[in-house]
Amino acid sequence: SNGTSHKLKRVVVTGGLGYIGSHVVVSLLLTGLYQPIVIDNCHNGYSEALDRCAEIARDELGPDAPQPILHNVDLRNSEAVDGVFSSYQDKGGIWAVVHLAALKAVGESGEIPLSYYRVNVAGSITLFEAMAKYHVQNLVFSSSATVYGTPEIIPIPESSPVIPASVYGRTKAMVEDIIQDLCSVEVKEGEEKLRAVSVRYFNPAGAHPSGKLGEEPRGKPGNLLPLLAQMAVGREKSELKIFGTDFPTPDGTCVRDYLHIMDLAHGHVLALGALAVPSDQKNIFSNCDPNDGSFRAFNLGKGKGMSVLNMIDAMKKATGYDYKYEIVGRRRGDVPDLTADPTLAEKELGFVADKDLDTMCRDLWNFQSKHPNGYKSTST
Ligand code: WQD
Repeated sequence: SNGTSHKLKRVVVTGGLGYIGSHVVVSLLLTGLYQPIVIDNCHNGYSEALDRCAEIARDELGPDAPQPILHNVDLRNSEAVDGVFSSYQDKGGIWAVVHLAALKAVGESGEIPLSYYRVNVAGSITLFEAMAKYHVQNLVFSSSATVYGTPEIIPIPESSPVIPASVYGRTKAMVEDIIQDLCSVEVKEGEEKLRAVSVRYFNPAGAHPSGKLGEEPRGKPGNLLPLLAQMAVGREKSELKIFGTDFPTPDGTCVRDYLHIMDLAHGHVLALGALAVPSDQKNIFSNCDPNDGSFRAFNLGKGKGMSVLNMIDAMKKATGYDYKYEIVGRRRGDVPDLTADPTLAEKELGFVADKDLDTMCRDLWNFQSKHPNGYKSTST
């Protein structure tokens, strides 16, 4: 179908060309329930990612599979954002928004804070204004474990205080507060109010098992896993640097909770499912304090911490590549350990991140070795 078939629920996915965004898009397509409408400014992603999503959907659902739609629009351009929402008004409108578009490098955020506040906070406000104007009342927000700063309790429960230690983390915490306030606005009798789920990501890794979709950032990857994959395939020639081995952790390097990108993407499908439960039935907001409105935050992680050295070993095993590295000073904004307590998402959303480390590394390597130079040139 060309995306106008009325039976599908339209879901706007901002940042849908990104690593997480494109895997969320493919997961939405594979449910057969949603028509993903991507808003992305192509700052960090390539439109080829959506072609791959469409291909995977056709592989699994057949030639009539729903196809994603792309609007090359920047959230800082309010007229353009309004234009996207208004263009669907006479076709049944938009049912929900999954908001992932953001700048996301912890270290970089301290160097260019205004860009991070403009894109991540002001851009979100532009999006939320369009949602309010066109009565879109379901929101899944891409938040982050970095809102916890350096948590007292590991593994981290959602009740852990929100004290971000980086500009990036502060932008995510601010947008959560904005959303909570929007969910708490008194609405007139019979009007639907905004209902929102904030999903606090830990560290996604891996790629869709088909090897057709993966992480394809513009320029040199800042994150560890895509960097290790590009080094193993000979695309990244620089030497691996380990940012500090003097952290209070088992081997001195930072511990993170790595989960498979497909488990993380599925968490968004579950969040949308929770939002689809009518407000007169028992739903995830039933026990919310009416003053807090219908806003819930959930950790999406495995609950298993792995260090930088653990990840290097796991990628060496998956790729056969013998990583040489140089130990250098700490990176700005890094905290020792971010490991999730995932029990709330497991209980309330039915979320399970059960793919293991070897699967993450194998799927990542399967993608990278098939596309040594990224989407622009494939060897298959
Ligand atoms: C992991 C570890 C680095 C590169 C991610 C997301 C961010 C936010 C938080 C979601 C750290 C070390 C890395 C390198 C290294 N999540 N490292 N050498 O910092 O946890 O950030 O999670 O919103 O958006 O990016 O992930 O992969 O950058 O770093 O030693 O060349 O690897 O110091 O300890 P991070 P990362």
